[in-house]
Amino acid sequence: MDLVEVQFAAAGKTVFVAPGTTLLAAAGMAGVDIATGCTRGRCGTDAHHVVCTPATALAPAAGDEAGTLARMGVGADCRLLCSARVREGRVQVLGDAIG
Ligand code: FES
Repeated sequence: MDLVEVQFAAAGKTVFVAPGTTLLAAAGMAGVDIATGCTRGRCGTDAHHVVCTPATALAPAAGDEAGTLARMGVGADCRLLCSARVREGRVQVLGDAIG
């Protein structure tokens, strides 16, 4: 199983995690503090801009995450860290989408 690289740009930290890991869990492994609320994809507190390489590096938003992102009106490059799960390649987590 190939690990997925997750970079937290603002903190300058990188971790390698198993496919299926949430970006929030990856942040915990990296020692990066992320402001959270519900941790279930419902509040949008942890929305961040991300860059995926390849484009399929994250599983598509679904369920509560997809509904919350649509309600927030953020762009397709924004994901909720508690809900977005890595799949392959590399994910760069950029700035807070609501800050
Ligand atoms: S913490 Fe509420 S949506 Fe992620």
